[in-house]
Amino acid sequence: MQAYIIDFVNLLLRWLHVIAAIAWIGESIYFVMLDNSLRSPKAAEDREKGVFGEMWSVHGGGFYHNQKYATAPAKLPNDLHWSFWKAYTTWLSGFALFVILYMVNPGFYLVNPNSPWQWAANMTGWQANLLALAFLLGGWVVYNELCKRISPNMDRDGLLSIAVAVMMIVVAYLSTQMFTGRAAFLLTGAVMATAMSANVFFWIIPGQRRMVKAMKAGDAPNPLDGKRGKQRSVHNTYFTLPVVLLMVSNHYSFIYSHELAWVVMVLFIFAGALIRQFFVLMHAGKTQPAYPAVGVGLILLAFWVAAPSALSPSGNEGVDGPPDQAQITALIEQHCVQCHARNPEHAGFSAPPAGFAFENWDEILGQKTQIQQVVASRYMPLGNMTNMSDEERDIIAAWE
Ligand code: HEC
Repeated sequence: MQAYIIDFVNLLLRWLHVIAAIAWIGESIYFVMLDNSLRSPKAAEDREKGVFGEMWSVHGGGFYHNQKYATAPAKLPNDLHWSFWKAYTTWLSGFALFVILYMVNPGFYLVNPNSPWQWAANMTGWQANLLALAFLLGGWVVYNELCKRISPNMDRDGLLSIAVAVMMIVVAYLSTQMFTGRAAFLLTGAVMATAMSANVFFWIIPGQRRMVKAMKAGDAPNPLDGKRGKQRSVHNTYFTLPVVLLMVSNHYSFIYSHELAWVVMVLFIFAGALIRQFFVLMHAGKTQPAYPAVGVGLILLAFWVAAPSALSPSGNEGVDGPPDQAQITALIEQHCVQCHARNPEHAGFSAPPAGFAFENWDEILGQKTQIQQVVASRYMPLGNMTNMSDEERDIIAAWE
């Protein structure tokens, strides 16, 4: 019953998280498009009113005419539309999901027993949970400091972008060394997503509030508030595509279980940012196919790096002929039965995980297809807790 309730809550949270993220990212993409599509106002009276750019569009059977004021319009309406709840809801629901999916069973989902760092491989569940939280918080602190120190007046934003890119490479690398592959992809995405929400919470919205307050008091708003809001929104835009990929990567064990998972992750992050750049420029009327072309090149590189051993030179050389019942049974006993037993309480599960138990040959044979799939995709053994080698995986693949 308890497992069922957790599953149900998980479903509802995931639903909320995906909807909030779609609404937030959709609105953010819309505003970047709007900003880049603005053209000088045609009517002289609009220019006199202080309109800096306008866009005409048709949508849902109506015609829209957006106007952007560079500085304060003569009179600011009271019913100004603000955007922030979508960002906060996305973060809060995402964090809650992380807690129920990873932090309730950190021994399986966070701790990487194959970490090259002994201390990380030996972490207890609680230490892993604390490390994951510190990782998220640390990611925001470092990113925020980079922004504040490198480009405090928004005049060195190019250099800042390079620093943020380098930071993401370090985050990808550290996460895969310290946590299981699946958690590493998720946490790297969460570092970016946390920076995005925190940008809204700590800088963009407070800056806008100060601007509105100044305007209402008849003062000129501090231009740095506007520029900083823009700087952080621009970062958010380039984070969106990579974050979505990292969040859905959970379902694709072939990308996160590879030894070079961090390289695969970095390739996808840069591919996403480059593809986003194409759209940003396109809305500004500049078509630069080189960006998505390089992006696609990086994805192809990721395809090559993450390819299973069958595609790479080593192949199935170690295996001579299909294995027999004794060989398969021995491998399953060694690598799967700790968890996939009818009473796996000692492993921390109240029932066979996903309903699979492999305690005798009938059970093993009856579930052959699933076993071969999860072993080939490296989804199982979970987190490779039982250290299954590539040669052993090849034996399971050769089973006829
Ligand atoms: C450390 C515990 C553990 C080990 C070891 C383990 N599994 Fe699993 N297995 C799980 C859990 C937990 C799930 C439920 C899915 C999840 O949480 O990702 C699962 C799910 C599965 C599934 C269902 C996958 C799906 O599509 O939902 C199969 C099949 C499976 N395991 C086979 C294996 C095989 C074969 C091995 C050995 C090579 C193995 N498992 C080793 C814990 C383990």
